[in-house]
Amino acid sequence: MKKPKNDRALRFYNEVLGLEHLHYGIWNDDDELTIANLKLAQKRYEDLLADNIPADVKTTLESGCGTGAMWTRMLAMGLDAEALSPDVNQMEMLTKKIKAPFHFCRFEDFEPSKQYDMVLMSESCQYVPLDQIFSRVKRSLRSKGYWMICDYFTLDNAEGVMAKSGHNFNKFMQLARENGFELLKERDITREATRTLDFARDLVRKGRTGVDIITEKFRHDHPLMTRFVGWLLRKKIRKLNESEELLDSKKFMAGKKYIFLLFQRGD
Ligand SMILES: C[S@@+](CC[C@H](N)C(=O)[O-])C[C@H]1O[C@@H](n2cnc3c(N)ncnc32)[C@H](O)[C@@H]1O
Repeated sequence: MKKPKNDRALRFYNEVLGLEHLHYGIWNDDDELTIANLKLAQKRYEDLLADNIPADVKTTLESGCGTGAMWTRMLAMGLDAEALSPDVNQMEMLTKKIKAPFHFCRFEDFEPSKQYDMVLMSESCQYVPLDQIFSRVKRSLRSKGYWMICDYFTLDNAEGVMAKSGHNFNKFMQLARENGFELLKERDITREATRTLDFARDLVRKGRTGVDIITEKFRHDHPLMTRFVGWLLRKKIRKLNESEELLDSKKFMAGKKYIFLLFQRGD
């Protein structure tokens, strides 16, 4: 088994920004880019998932449950809901907070002791390798069970950093068909989701301005030292610039698709 994950970015969203969900959410076009509206967008997304759980679903497994908000919602709906995550911080927090079965592992390593009526992957499908995901979902899902996904995928024309995260959409859909999954519902939420990137970009820019203001006097008084520190941190700075490119909503919309999908297992 691989080393447990400790995703600091996810901790930042939860512990610093106070977000209950770790997904993009669904924004209204005219929403101002505020943390309050991001939380409302995330609630709208949660409602989309909850409202589309088929009536004959009683048992669920959420793979990559994050802070456990959707898991809690499913328990409150009276479902026999279990959750899974390989992240050590999420495991510690969730096992204290929620008294229902939690599995501390990656989905591709999970050995189910039963077959669920529904498997949910909310912005967590992208982490499971494509050559394992279909066989692993089938192991966890009863015949005619449901697989709900809401996540972003890459389009065929995606390039650079935009091509790096997310499965290729066309390939994923083709493999889903070949593996006997019938598509029951789909809703493209790319435009409504990507406003979260505008929000994050704004936040990063404000953070940079803050650092500029705080370090202004030092940079003015010690130009040589400033250049030396810049050189020492050059790799980190390159990475930061790359991550800022990932927050470009226009590039995201050109290279990715954020979509809700509900599949039914055929056999
Ligand atoms: C972006 S967060 C989404 C969290 C939550 N589902 C939500 O919508 O707020 C991704 C989640 O997937 C988990 N994850 C990462 N790799 C995974 C894997 N191989 N199998 C299952 N979960 C994984 C992360 O620890 C995290 O809980």
